[in-house]
Amino acid sequence: MKPFARHRRLRRNEAIRSMVREHHVQVTDLIYPLFVVEGNGVKEEIPSMPGVCHFSLDRLDEEIDEVVDLGIPSVLIFGVPNEKDACGSSAYDENGIVQRAIRRIKERHPGLYVIADTCLCQYTDHGHCGVVEDGEIDNDSSLELLVKTAVSQARAGADMIAPSNMMDGFVAAIRQGLDESGFTNIPIMSYAVKYASAFYGPFRDAAHSAPQFGDRRTYQMDPANAREALREAASDVEEGADLLMVKPGMAYLDILYRLKERFDLPVAVYNVSAEYAMVKAAAQNGWIDEQRIVMELMTAMKRAGADLILTYHAKDVARWLRGGM
Ligand code: PBG
Ligand code: ZN
Repeated sequence: MKPFARHRRLRRNEAIRSMVREHHVQVTDLIYPLFVVEGNGVKEEIPSMPGVCHFSLDRLDEEIDEVVDLGIPSVLIFGVPNEKDACGSSAYDENGIVQRAIRRIKERHPGLYVIADTCLCQYTDHGHCGVVEDGEIDNDSSLELLVKTAVSQARAGADMIAPSNMMDGFVAAIRQGLDESGFTNIPIMSYAVKYASAFYGPFRDAAHSAPQFGDRRTYQMDPANAREALREAASDVEEGADLLMVKPGMAYLDILYRLKERFDLPVAVYNVSAEYAMVKAAAQNGWIDEQRIVMELMTAMKRAGADLILTYHAKDVARWLRGGM
């Protein structure tokens, strides 16, 4: 008989399976997104994102303590301001909600790595990620405001800037702005490849950031395109990005894989709000094994090349990795 490969030899028991396992999810891979709101005493669950809450600054402390206790190294901060206007001025206000949140977190836990999401959509009354002129999103005037926002976040103590508005030249503009303000050591994680996706639905409810007219297809990418993602990423690499991000995650792992193959920067993937909501809804119905599904998804993202995973599951994953429930 012809010899044949017995692949099952290396699957016989957990000892050998764990010895030949190619990819691992570690707590240091995780970045936990947080939503901060004005007011006092607020800890309100977001209906479409069970387990994820809006926090006012006073209640943020307990959440941050928990994140630190779980060993999660980093958080991504989203602000939900009370005031919105045409040019999103609360985004770059020194005393804006995000700036105050960053200062508070760094004071309490200087070692927690704080990443600021840098965009305008939560702060503009029209809900777009840039400045609207004659019904269109104007690229270059949006850049100026984005740079102001990034610099104010760095001044507040952010460890990293994560610009997400997908304007052309946003990495170069922010790099220059940060450098001129003395923040040459603050890295930029670019939302390099961000698709115009229906998977952001729950987030937009949570952040009150849905566009009030039109959609984001003139700046976010067409889900049908893959090669264009490489051009987007190449621009950001050339402009000085330190890390690249792909968003959403699950439906875009081919894109993540291509970026990882093509570029030598660390890559992050954003496991976005509807990905989370779908898993949670099915789990609450008892239709799936939440822990196994989530860990399989996290592993898939690692296997596709992710160095970092931004996920609302981060606290659960950290607990499960410790062997808890
Ligand atoms: C916009 C932004 C989006 C998300 C975070 N910041 C997408 C959008 O509204 O177009 C989505 C995050 C998520 O769905 O979890 N700058
Ligand atoms: Zn935006």
